[in-house]
Amino acid sequence: MRSMPASPLPLLARPAFYLFVVLLLPLLCFPLAANGGAPPPTASSPAAAAASTAAGDLVPPNGSVAAPPAAAAPAPFVELEERHQHLRRQIIIAAVLASIAGVTIVLAVLFACIAWRRYRGAPDDFKDTQSTDTARIALVPILNRFNSFKATKKGLVAMMDYASLEAATGNFSESNVLGVGGFGCVYKANFDGGFVAAVKRLGCEGQECEKEFENELDLLQRIQHSNIVSLVGFCIHEENRFIVYELMVNGSLETQLHGPSHGSALSWHIRMKIALDTARGLEYLHEHCNPPIIHRDLKSSNILLNSDFNAKISDFGLAVTSGNRSKGNLKLSGTLGYVAPEYLLDGKLTEKSDVYAFGVVLLELLLGRRPVEKMAPSQCQSIVTWAMPQLIDRSKLPTIIDPVIRDTMDRKHLYQVAAVAVLCVQPEPSYRPLITDVLHSLIPLVPMDLGGTLRINPESPCTTRNQSPC
Ligand SMILES: Nc1ncnc2c1ncn2[C@@H]1O[C@H](COP(=O)(O)OP(=O)(O)O)[C@@H](O)[C@H]1O
Ligand SMILES: [Mg+2]
Repeated sequence: MRSMPASPLPLLARPAFYLFVVLLLPLLCFPLAANGGAPPPTASSPAAAAASTAAGDLVPPNGSVAAPPAAAAPAPFVELEERHQHLRRQIIIAAVLASIAGVTIVLAVLFACIAWRRYRGAPDDFKDTQSTDTARIALVPILNRFNSFKATKKGLVAMMDYASLEAATGNFSESNVLGVGGFGCVYKANFDGGFVAAVKRLGCEGQECEKEFENELDLLQRIQHSNIVSLVGFCIHEENRFIVYELMVNGSLETQLHGPSHGSALSWHIRMKIALDTARGLEYLHEHCNPPIIHRDLKSSNILLNSDFNAKISDFGLAVTSGNRSKGNLKLSGTLGYVAPEYLLDGKLTEKSDVYAFGVVLLELLLGRRPVEKMAPSQCQSIVTWAMPQLIDRSKLPTIIDPVIRDTMDRKHLYQVAAVAVLCVQPEPSYRPLITDVLHSLIPLVPMDLGGTLRINPESPCTTRNQSPC
């Protein structure tokens, strides 16, 4: 999916390096160990003679007959003692060097094995590791039990057993419904061993459903990012299709904003974090995937929140790669209120369509309103048309903010976010910013502990995450 330059393997990670060390060290150590680190004795030196004699040589290295010790030294016992001491020193030095060489060889072999295994196991593509990771670790024992895999265009996805999905969801009981989608419900699944996941059941009678199923599987198994929901596996049973995802315990942004809690769990800073996370996920799709991916259905019900309110983009049934969009085989799809005007009117699809939808989500976060609201039985009003005149009027803006967070933020930050939203929902796509620019304008508004660069000053009521008036 992504074309990443193959990063050069660092020297320490190269198995060849370790093999080199393994082969070279004994060669380097051997001569040292053999002479105890001392300069090689010359044939005529007393040390050489002593060593030769001590080693049991009958003839000294120069070939002459050794003189009797008594004639060579006035104190034979002292000389013999010196020779023994010298010999002991040599043996100790040789032993120490031999042990160092041995330990080095063992360590080098060990490192070589580790480096080789890592090198063999490294994925071709870059993978973001922040997130999914807990889900994946927890998954290993479960996936081991599902030993069949579906081969898709680029890789493998775990094919899960229908009976286990049935058991984990209490036979797809209503009490386990997490959400309702276009082709069926999403259920909470509790697997043996305590692993939990979300299972989407698609009742596929038509081709459209089958296409979305295949598309979502194909894309999700190729992309991995901390702001994109993780794929766990899939299952096909009769006309039903199942996609298993990591469980996002705080549900969708739509439920949080427009459900029973009416956004009360989402402070200003958490809302800004959700916007930032979503922009990061989109930036990954637009800028780091090759070919780029256009989500085509970004909306608050497709932004899911985990236990820490980290936001992840989900629902890739309609997503397309830029290669596919030009084929003219795309049915006009999306959700009313989020669809960019040029796509709705001319079918013109670009990354800027996602930027428009992002702008609508930003307005939902700011205003706590649905993207399209019913005014009268046959009359709807879009959040964009309704809010635009007030968004650009600094005196009116604070009055239309979601009452749950009204007056809890720094005014300057509010004006900045409103300006970003206004730009994103421009009718002319070329006036809209790239998602990268949006991302960079949001980073300074999110506290450091939530993934931005904003330093919270505990003294200032405007920068606390509590809902204090400013
Ligand atoms: N991984 C998940 N964790 C928790 N809830 C989820 C998960 N996936 C989906 N849901 C819930 O189910 C709803 C529908 O899921 P979605 O994948 O968007 O289906 P559809 O493609 O039919 O729109 C979401 O809006 C959300 O409320
Ligand atoms: Mg959806």
